[in-house]
Amino acid sequence: MRAGQRDLLLGLLPRLTVALPPEGQALDPAALFDPRPRSVWLEIGFGAGEHTAAQAKANPQVGLIGCEVFANGLGGLLTLIEAEAIANIRIFPEDARRLLPCLPEASIDGAFLLFPDPWPKKRHARRRFIGPDNLAQLARILADGAPLRLASDHPVYVDWAIRHLAASPDFTLTRHPDRPVDWPPTRYESKARQAGAACAYLTALRRPRPKV
Ligand SMILES: C[S@@+](CC[C@H](N)C(=O)[O-])C[C@H]1O[C@@H](n2cnc3c(N)ncnc32)[C@H](O)[C@@H]1O
Repeated sequence: MRAGQRDLLLGLLPRLTVALPPEGQALDPAALFDPRPRSVWLEIGFGAGEHTAAQAKANPQVGLIGCEVFANGLGGLLTLIEAEAIANIRIFPEDARRLLPCLPEASIDGAFLLFPDPWPKKRHARRRFIGPDNLAQLARILADGAPLRLASDHPVYVDWAIRHLAASPDFTLTRHPDRPVDWPPTRYESKARQAGAACAYLTALRRPRPKV
């Protein structure tokens, strides 16, 4: 990590960090931003942060929460935030699975899981982010009609994700023929494409909740 990035981790990150609420209390995600945005989006595993920064710049009315555990990745996003004076990003620098249960029902208007670690071996399948527990949390926090965007270059993961999303009663799944134009590329994707891998782009829309 470069010295400048280390300074940003010490100086800027604490000001943008999403703190978990006291046990038993929920987090109001829109209250993390000033002014309060009409929509809040969530990115899980943003890597070096290019997608998060590009979405935040293209959608200044939205508040974006990015989750990443990798220190170099945090440094990458902080560098972009500072260089481009981006005001609508907050960061959860820990495992996203700690944040999801603290978010209220239907409080998130879009989520991104781009090129998640594939854990291709069968014996590691339980480590894949897409799975019954995380899908249930995502279905709970996503608002009716909100998209979960997922991309992967790993055929095992793509099949796995399609199977889980198609089996879920909470999502309607679409596979795009190519990356949609309002979906900026990521570093991992560029490397995968350069290596000749085919990438899959999926959108799972949160089905409207039944009226009670
Ligand atoms: C293969 S990389 C892809 C990064 C980025 N999305 C891209 O497309 O370039 C997956 C990233 O997800 C992060 N990650 C994995 N599990 C995570 C979790 N539970 N919470 C937050 N980040 C996670 C990893 O640290 C890694 O940076």
